[in-house]
Amino acid sequence: MSDPDVVRFFDTTLRDGEQAPGIALTKDEKVEIAEQLARLQVDILEAGFAISSDGEFDAVREIATSVKGPVIASLARVVPGDIERAAEALKGADRSRIHVFISTSQIHMEDMLRMSHRQVLDGIGEGVKLAAGYTDDVEFSAQDATRTELDFLLECFDVAVKAGATTINVPDTVGYATPAEFGELVRIVRDRTSEHVTISTHCHNDLGLAVANSLAGVEHGARQVEVAVNGIGERAGNCSLEEMAMILRTRREALGVGHGLNLKEIVRTSRLVSALTGYSVQPNKAVVGASAFAHESGIHQHGVLANRATYEIMDPVEIGLEGNQIVLGKHSGRHAFADALDKVGISIDDDHMHRAFARFKELADRKIQITDQDLAAIVSEEVGSGKEDLLVLESLASGGGTHLAPTATVRLRRGDEVIEESAMGDGMIDAACGAIQRAAGVEATLITFNVSSVTGGSDALGDVVVQLEIDGRRVTGRGVATDVVEASARAYLAAINRAASVAEPDSARAIETPAEAARNEVTP
Ligand code: KIV
Ligand code: ZN
Repeated sequence: MSDPDVVRFFDTTLRDGEQAPGIALTKDEKVEIAEQLARLQVDILEAGFAISSDGEFDAVREIATSVKGPVIASLARVVPGDIERAAEALKGADRSRIHVFISTSQIHMEDMLRMSHRQVLDGIGEGVKLAAGYTDDVEFSAQDATRTELDFLLECFDVAVKAGATTINVPDTVGYATPAEFGELVRIVRDRTSEHVTISTHCHNDLGLAVANSLAGVEHGARQVEVAVNGIGERAGNCSLEEMAMILRTRREALGVGHGLNLKEIVRTSRLVSALTGYSVQPNKAVVGASAFAHESGIHQHGVLANRATYEIMDPVEIGLEGNQIVLGKHSGRHAFADALDKVGISIDDDHMHRAFARFKELADRKIQITDQDLAAIVSEEVGSGKEDLLVLESLASGGGTHLAPTATVRLRRGDEVIEESAMGDGMIDAACGAIQRAAGVEATLITFNVSSVTGGSDALGDVVVQLEIDGRRVTGRGVATDVVEASARAYLAAINRAASVAEPDSARAIETPAEAARNEVTP
């Protein structure tokens, strides 16, 4: 039985988080995030959905064997093939969990699974029993629980527990519930379920209620919350790990429960995940946003200087935020660079280190000081484009004006070959991206384009994240430069390189989502 005063953190950054559009992490990146999650001391780490591709299986297996501390979990539908594959991938783990799921709402069963109530119940019973033969830690999730008819949902949970499930998860898969409804549902499930079984929440953020709903679940007896770093996940994302952690920390007396996370690692984890996924954190995001501890108005500044607690309910030092330090300048060497990376929680292999350092030197020559946020952005650009960049940007020249059509000329290097192309566009960024596309020889459609500055001030680095569709797949790319046209060109090229480096069968985006998988395989 789990400790009634402790809420366990089940992190799904590498599974549900990775299902966010445009994210496709390599195995090494997943292992790096998993190691950081272990430092953060999450209780359960969902490493992936082992059946979904060979690459995903390898990543789950690598994490299971090398990452120590958390229980390592793999997702599986309630079908034998999935469960056997999950068990195989988890073999090397000190402690493993198989997380089986099936949809239980009428709409999912009828229109997606085309299964009857009886078939779903049988699938749950057989699937959980099979999983329990591999490990004594089995979680069952009733997908779309909040839109499932209550009596049927309770019957599903009953069957799962009888078959050996030790955790029962109540997903608000489509982010539909309100906190009052969700809290009440968790209360009913808690009351009806044996004490030895942990009740879990898994809330999506479609209406911005993922954290509020998870909290309502905790208030009504849930002792596991499924969360993702920076709240990433399908569509609008999942319950944010850092927000949930700091609610339980800051309001622990009111709530009467605690958790076992190492809060000092929160900021590092958030930055690492943002850097590797290319998903930037909005400045005003609670807890980890760049402005979360910034005080702008004179009255607030005055108050905070006199006593921090006048306007701050959390201590930034407690989550590992030591202020926006200026860390490096153009005279800094490789050691100082490596040290600074370590401080912001990033460890990269020699090849990436070499490239990131060269890029840092190039930027430091143009910008006097590089902050820790600049650093994370530089590394993310270098690491994000893949192990070996197929195409490297050698130079970019762009021009235009009030009466001149914007044009750009790029020079790319592919091994020993140099390719030069020019293009005109609606603006300088459009021209630069057009020239890159021509030089790379690919057809790409721009899906999203996001530009921000890494820090404040007119000397800030421009940070551009693009999402492209190439050969039917969505890929993201990130580019950082002192000039926004160059940052855009770099981001565009990074996405093209990423599309080339993430081979089709290994791409998490090329695989089915759990929902698609469930739809495509209906026999439990
Ligand atoms: O949102 C959801 O229902 C899921 C399940 C697989 C737990 O991600
Ligand atoms: Zn989900």
